[in-house]
Amino acid sequence: MSLVSVVVIAVWAMLPAYVPNNVAVVAGGGRPIDGGRTWREARLLGDGKTWRGTVVGTAAGVSLAFGLNYLTPVATEALGIGVPKFTLRVAVTLALGAMLGDIGASLLKRRLDRERGAPVPGLDQLDFALGALVLTAVVAPEWFSRTFTIPVLLAVLVATPLLHVGTNAIAYALSLKDEPY
Ligand code: CTP
Ligand code: MG
Repeated sequence: MSLVSVVVIAVWAMLPAYVPNNVAVVAGGGRPIDGGRTWREARLLGDGKTWRGTVVGTAAGVSLAFGLNYLTPVATEALGIGVPKFTLRVAVTLALGAMLGDIGASLLKRRLDRERGAPVPGLDQLDFALGALVLTAVVAPEWFSRTFTIPVLLAVLVATPLLHVGTNAIAYALSLKDEPY
């Protein structure tokens, strides 16, 4: 398989996992998931993880997966690359897994005494991708191993931080996000 095909499949398969966190930035607000609770003198998750952001972000990722399914024949025809189709189960594991990965990172950051919004390079760029990959691998192992071959997985690990840095810089420039990371 060519490098271009590998990268296209990697990005296509991960799009339902890329969108939720960005949508949460716009849709977030309201009641924090941890309800203000603390654990060992720090917030459990912090005000940056809200129910609304999580629900709307997940719904956006799932919707995108079905939108992409609609485009599968066009993409396959135009690019000559067999992009994967998303089942409902996989759409949910990718989108919800991304949100859970990000929530898990906040849980970890609060334990490390990092305030809301404080950067943790590496974790910030990969938490959502790892959450999406792990949840999909556990809940839909067949789809996972068929789609995420070793080269595709490697492409995900390289492309994700680059895309994340790029989209966050744009969100920051548009004043949608308080920090550029
Ligand atoms: N957001 C949300 N719910 C989520 C994830 C994000 O409402 N599950 C919204 C919040 O408004 C948050 C913004 O998106 O402030 C940016 O997300 P992120 O960078 O993940 O949160 P931070 O505010 O930086 O907080 P943390 O340090 O916990 O990552
Ligand atoms: Mg942040």
